[in-house]
Amino acid sequence: MFDLHLDLDRAAGRLGVQLAVRLRDAIRSGRLAPAARLPSTRTLAQDLGVSRGVVVTAYEQLTAEGFLVSRPGDGTRVARLPAAPAAEGPAAPGAAPTAEYDLRPGTPDLASFPRVRWAAALKQALDTMARTDFAYPDPAGVPALRRELAGYLGRVRAAAATPEQVVVTAGVAHGLSAVVRLTGAPLAVEDPTSDRQIPMLRATGVPLIPVPVDGEGMDVAALARSAARAVLLTPAHQFPTGVVLSSRRRAALVAWAEATGALIIEDDYDAEFRYDRDPVGCVQALAPGRTVLLGSVSKTLAPGMRLGWMVAPAPLAARVAGHRMDTDLGSPVVGQHALAHFLASGAYDRHLRQMRRRYRARRDALVDALAVHLPEAEISGISAGLHLYLRLTRPVPDLAEAAASRGVLVHASGPSAVIVGYAGLTEARLRAAVRLLAEAVRRGPSRP
Ligand SMILES: Cc1ncc(COP(=O)(O)O)c(C=O)c1O
Repeated sequence: MFDLHLDLDRAAGRLGVQLAVRLRDAIRSGRLAPAARLPSTRTLAQDLGVSRGVVVTAYEQLTAEGFLVSRPGDGTRVARLPAAPAAEGPAAPGAAPTAEYDLRPGTPDLASFPRVRWAAALKQALDTMARTDFAYPDPAGVPALRRELAGYLGRVRAAAATPEQVVVTAGVAHGLSAVVRLTGAPLAVEDPTSDRQIPMLRATGVPLIPVPVDGEGMDVAALARSAARAVLLTPAHQFPTGVVLSSRRRAALVAWAEATGALIIEDDYDAEFRYDRDPVGCVQALAPGRTVLLGSVSKTLAPGMRLGWMVAPAPLAARVAGHRMDTDLGSPVVGQHALAHFLASGAYDRHLRQMRRRYRARRDALVDALAVHLPEAEISGISAGLHLYLRLTRPVPDLAEAAASRGVLVHASGPSAVIVGYAGLTEARLRAAVRLLAEAVRRGPSRP
């Protein structure tokens, strides 16, 4: 039996019908091979987070249609169907490829969103919120959540945080845009960095100064030679290379900020996931008066939550709260109260522990598969986060397109490197995706 990845749209309802459609498509396309044994109805129901009846309905439907066969003692298997018609062959040139494997970074495993526990936290919030809690909120965030976040960040990220320093945001991007706009200082950014952040930063109108990253993280000597008076960096797991900012560089960075009065903006976007050694504490703890720590639940729960936080020096936190009052009147309150309960009950820590185990197994499978299929490529950034960085031995022009033509979506970082996100795929699917990626590296696009 194998792992079966099937996306269901819960909001669309009729899960049994959806599941039957997905399975039928998987059989027709050959993704489910003839005679392959399907998971038991109980196992698949658990994997998909649906009732067993949903799976039973889908299996029965496909058995009636002849796609599946079911024999006592042998479980349910894919029927041996006549060969698929020619139309099922490889995509024609220029046709949009169907992405079978999404290895793009930036998204956690959305199928693992803790729906039941989050629903309980939401219910607890709604059951306990006072009438006045539904009024326009404190633009810095509801006090209960700021208290919980200060405790959590102190405990898990070794941050020096009091509730007064915490501002609740709609994610790292939101907090970052606000701080950069308010400070207005020329901003150093890591080179390479996140493509997604550059347009956001450009929109602030602040001059951006790229500073190179090497094996120890940002080159702080180069930073010190620049005109920057603020710096944005990802010390726990540099995006995209995955390098951890070394202790020497941390010390140099803090010394630079103290000497010049500059602001350090620490993007702690995926720091909760660290697999082989203890988490590296945040830079903010070394210089709480000069650092803004930015984080969110985007990688721990889901980016669609749009819930995050910043820990800033108290005067800057107050300015950000004032800016929120002038621009958006604060963040939605129900989600804030729910997150406060989620943190206080230990549900967040439990979820993180569970996801760390899951992601570690996925990372290990990915690294093993790369060693088999792309042994010459150099891998970095494997000790933390949800992606790794793969340097190829030679430039492969249009690698992302070549991979996409084979059903694999990756994010290229220049012509000789790829960022490989592994959060959303099971081990078996990661192995299959790496085999196809290696083919794309060696042979380019797939041709009919
Ligand atoms: C390095 C990095 N930090 C932060 C973000 C945005 O995070 P959030 O969802 O918390 O706004 C991104 C988005 O892709 C990112 O690549």
